Amino acid sequence: MARRRQLYEGKAKILFEGPEPGTLVQYFKDDATAFNSQKKGTITGKGVLNNRISEYLMLRLGEIGVPTHFVRRLNMREQLIREVEIIPIAVVVRNLAAGSLSKRLGIPEGTRLPRSIIEYYYKNDALQSPMVAEEHITAFGWAGTQDMDDMVALTLRINDFLTGLFLGVGITLVDFKIEFGRLYENDDMRIVLADELSPDNCRLWDSKTNEKMDKDRFRRDLGKVEEAYQEVARRLGILPEAGMRDLKGPETMQ
Ligand code: TMP
Repeated sequence: MARRRQLYEGKAKILFEGPEPGTLVQYFKDDATAFNSQKKGTITGKGVLNNRISEYLMLRLGEIGVPTHFVRRLNMREQLIREVEIIPIAVVVRNLAAGSLSKRLGIPEGTRLPRSIIEYYYKNDALQSPMVAEEHITAFGWAGTQDMDDMVALTLRINDFLTGLFLGVGITLVDFKIEFGRLYENDDMRIVLADELSPDNCRLWDSKTNEKMDKDRFRRDLGKVEEAYQEVARRLGILPEAGMRDLKGPETMQ
């Protein structure tokens, strides 16, 4: 089999050249890192589950008109995506206090925030991805003011939609991180959702018990990491073990 050219290897994914111009293949690894790679490990089966979960969430977002880089899933660990120019900003949305916000501002984890809060981090491993303000982003040209307006509008829609989607399967969307890219088509440029949406970059708590169902189980050595990712997929109705394609809808909780 002809080996595809590898273009980039990140902490959790590898990007290969796609089958046609303007496409890439995104491969999901089982590798997990936390705290800017200070902690490293493997979560068995994570790549398979995140491939499915990200596919599912991007498709649902696409259905409500949120543009994404996702084209189609190719196999257990790979998906075809559109090649975009990644904006080097991690956009974090928070609905409840947790993680670095709780630590920095002394707000207990689980406190409902007065409104959803958007934060920006400059994607740079050497600098440990520092938090930045919109001023830095536009002044240094990482994104323009129109890009920022588009990203904020999309981010708020994504948050509203995903909050409802997860609530429907008994999961509270505490916070999450997303990335955007510029998609060039003919003479047009659009900002689209890129990267992935999975328990690696969301905080997901069971709505009834507040049990953590995301990468915090790995970050904080809480155990049952694989099981948590599987349970998220199961509730969304997309557990690969179910055998068939992703035809089953989400399982609605009382
Ligand atoms: P934080 O509380 O550590 O700042 O994380 C906020 C959210 O962003 C949480 O859902 C985890 C996610 N996140 C990433 O996906 N990648 C990262 O590098 C960091 C720091 C957070």
